[in-house]
Amino acid sequence: MRAAVVEEFGSPPRWTEVPDPVATGRHEAVVDVVAVGLHPRVRSQAAGSHYTSTDELPLIPGIDGVGRDAEGRLRYFVLRDTVHGSMAQRAVIDVRHSVLLPPGADPAQVAAVMNPAMSSWIALRQRVGLRAGQSVLVLGATGNAGAMAVRVARRLGAGRVIAVGRGAQRMAAADPDAIVALDDAPDRVAEQLGRAASDVDVVLDYLWGRPTADALRAIVPARHDDDQKLTWVQIGSVAGTESPIPSAALRATRLDIVGSGQGSVPATRIVAELGELLDEVAAGHFTSDVLTMPLSQVGQAWLTGTHGTQRVVLVA
Ligand SMILES: NC(=O)c1ccc[n+]([C@@H]2O[C@H](COP(=O)([O-])OP(=O)(O)OC[C@H]3O[C@@H](n4cnc5c(N)ncnc54)[C@H](OP(=O)(O)O)[C@@H]3O)[C@@H](O)[C@H]2O)c1
Repeated sequence: MRAAVVEEFGSPPRWTEVPDPVATGRHEAVVDVVAVGLHPRVRSQAAGSHYTSTDELPLIPGIDGVGRDAEGRLRYFVLRDTVHGSMAQRAVIDVRHSVLLPPGADPAQVAAVMNPAMSSWIALRQRVGLRAGQSVLVLGATGNAGAMAVRVARRLGAGRVIAVGRGAQRMAAADPDAIVALDDAPDRVAEQLGRAASDVDVVLDYLWGRPTADALRAIVPARHDDDQKLTWVQIGSVAGTESPIPSAALRATRLDIVGSGQGSVPATRIVAELGELLDEVAAGHFTSDVLTMPLSQVGQAWLTGTHGTQRVVLVA
């Protein structure tokens, strides 16, 4: 079969001939790949920079996708293997880590949306246990995962949802209750953040780096009630993998900093959420602006710039 193969970290994959995959485990099956999302997580896998990377090369990138099983049914699947990914004509899946697509679901939409939507869905259900009416602030609400987090939080029962990111206009599409534009003057940003988040319960953080430290500096002194817990969930790190968090932030308020991702949420719990989330996606509650390209053009797709919340999906 043919697959996208990364031979060197930092170089785009090449569409080339590789041996056919073979299912060996009791729960394994080979699927014909139908659609695969080119998520930031896939780029970091292919760059060898994700925290789950094993440095092994060559590798086939792709962490999830939609495939057709031997019975002709479409399945959304997630892969745990860091080397044998889904950007190929066929892939070996663990059937327990897959769910059947509801009738009529669009494979390209599913492949585009599940990964970014899962980031906040799992964080709010598995790491926070969001209660109806609690307020949520999304730090980095302009990308696929961040913009979707505004919708996911609301769908899961959040009361007030605040979007924070660079570019007020881009955040308006998700219809948050309040917007703070990080590209405003620093004093104004700090003042607006303090006001907007003085009684927030949960922060979903896609940025990390400097913006996280700056946001804590603005929010912590503005908290109204010392007794109100603030759960800060580290989800993405588009602004930096390290953040100079002020020590006082942890002493001055009931701040819990937790992460949400592979490892901090056990695989069984991630998998247990897939069915319900897929139903939400199939029902059109969470959508993406999909740019489809043929799998065979993976090298070109790698170099294609996307705008806004557009997501490249490679299709068979
Ligand atoms: N833990 C999980 O379960 C999980 C799951 C999915 C995704 N993620 C992570 O979540 C992050 C976002 O993913 P995504 O799919 O939304 O990516 P995306 O669609 O590529 O969006 C990234 C967004 O971040 C913005 N951004 C970049 N640098 C910034 C900065 N310094 N300050 C403010 N905004 C900045 C970009 O805005 P500009 O256009 O202005 O650059 C863009 O809107 C990634 O780190 C991804 O790996 C985590």
